[in-house]
Amino acid sequence: MSLPPVIAIDGPTASGKGTVASLVADSLGFHYLDSGALYRLVALASEIQGIDVKNGPELGLIASKLLILFKNNQIFLDGKDVTEAIRTESIGLRASTLAVHPEVRAALVDLQHSFRQSPGLVADGRDMASVIFPDAVLKVFLTATASARAERRYKQLIAKGISAKLSDLLQDLQERDARDSSRGAAPLVIADGAKVLETSDLSIDQAVSLVLDWYQSATA
Ligand code: CDP
Repeated sequence: MSLPPVIAIDGPTASGKGTVASLVADSLGFHYLDSGALYRLVALASEIQGIDVKNGPELGLIASKLLILFKNNQIFLDGKDVTEAIRTESIGLRASTLAVHPEVRAALVDLQHSFRQSPGLVADGRDMASVIFPDAVLKVFLTATASARAERRYKQLIAKGISAKLSDLLQDLQERDARDSSRGAAPLVIADGAKVLETSDLSIDQAVSLVLDWYQSATA
């Protein structure tokens, strides 16, 4: 029996891939995996337990024992609603730092595969097409220029009432890009066969409909 189809959407930080991926999933009635949330959960759990971000083996252990639940757009860790707590810039930075450890990445593989359920899955992250779902029926590398991404993140934070400085955000995302692209374990790459979607001048709706068109062509 063939496995349910996967659309893999990878890309750098603040590229808007999460928004696009979840809208594509809604439109197709597919499940949605926000793999970055898993790294953020490891970041939060390990911070609570006081584990150093350099300690790969301990972090891997935490990743393998995560007690999580995704329900109605909410995320629970050990029964506690952490939907907002994992979205802070400091948890994002910690997630990006500990995501370099092969122990952490290996511990999350089965969990990510478990999201592949009928009728299909849209998965977003850094290594969805290259490592986790190499047989994805459609692979998209969604990106935008660094300044467009910094501006998007700035607007998001300001809309939430969080103060931010555009130049700090730009520097932070360039550092994250460098770390994601240069790490030895599952670096951010444009996977073989992936279609590049440059969204600097596209609206969310335009990006979503392009992905849906590509999916229709891929499965026609
Ligand atoms: O919001 P942002 O795009 O920066 O991050 P995210 O998708 O929530 O993921 C948080 C961090 O986890 C990223 O900065 C990546 O370094 C890491 N990550 C990863 O290594 N592999 C994935 N499949 C997803 C996220």
